[in-house]
Amino acid sequence: MEDFLKLQDLYSAELNALIDFGIELKSKLKNKEKHEYLKDKIMGMIFTKSSTRTRVAFETGIIQLGGRAIFLSSQDIQLGRGESIADTARVLERYLDLIMIRTYKQSDVEDLAKFANIPVINGLTDYCHPSQVVADLMTLKEYKGTLKGKKLCYIGDGNNVANSLIVGCIKTGVAISLACPEKYSPDPKLLAWARHEGDIELTEDIQKAVRDADALYTDVWASMGQENEAAIRQRIFKEYQINNKILQMAAKDAIVLHCLPAHKGEEISENTFEEHAKEIFDEAENRLHAHKAIMAALFIKDFGLSKKTD
Ligand code: CP
Ligand code: NVA
Repeated sequence: MEDFLKLQDLYSAELNALIDFGIELKSKLKNKEKHEYLKDKIMGMIFTKSSTRTRVAFETGIIQLGGRAIFLSSQDIQLGRGESIADTARVLERYLDLIMIRTYKQSDVEDLAKFANIPVINGLTDYCHPSQVVADLMTLKEYKGTLKGKKLCYIGDGNNVANSLIVGCIKTGVAISLACPEKYSPDPKLLAWARHEGDIELTEDIQKAVRDADALYTDVWASMGQENEAAIRQRIFKEYQINNKILQMAAKDAIVLHCLPAHKGEEISENTFEEHAKEIFDEAENRLHAHKAIMAALFIKDFGLSKKTD
């Protein structure tokens, strides 16, 4: 793994190994075992969108791994005044060991990786949110003991999180169903790939999607950058809510996941959120452990490839 740009770039073995490495690092931290995989490494973190979890998880994570991070708001660096991605990349690679970026266009992240001769991590784009989904699958594995054969149901907008969930689930043998309003489906190329590779169902019918699901997942109706569509989306997505009525149609011990931040009363009811807060905040905590696994793995030769089958 040279960069971490989207889950499609990973072999199944690498993704499964990342999830297990996250679980291992979590236990090392709890047992106060040293795990300084990135001693003295310095990471730059470019943000052109807001963040709580991603920023704090990556920054805390690299400190725990023995390194340091520099927060680079795009408003404060020349990138925000029009300096190109290519030039930014060729400068930053001279100072840093690793770059994490959260921005709008996936192509900007791919370009950054192309021009910087150091590992680049995608911390969310309009297209995908791969680091999130490593933590999500880690959480599912912790709660259910295994991933293969489980079913995750995503309800809501076919957005960046949904796109990464599709790839993450298919690559780990999790069946995925998505209930999305018409015209708000995930990326069509990803859907075609997933239909070919694994078990995926896309429907507008929430009750159908939720049947026998081991995990229910949702995300906001309007993502960052879609603020001006919020009103219209509230009308279109009105029925696409995880609540106790929907939850009853899932498997008996189904867990509820949300990448956060949540808009309670919209994509998830207040009750369901609070009743499943343990799972949701375990998932948020797992961002830390999963992101440490991603950062460290980028510096481990052939990480996860010994069990490669695809
Ligand atoms: N889920 C997530 O990425 O949260 P932040 O936007 O707070 O980083
Ligand atoms: N889909 C959301 C995820 C936030 C973590 C967004 O892009 O704003």
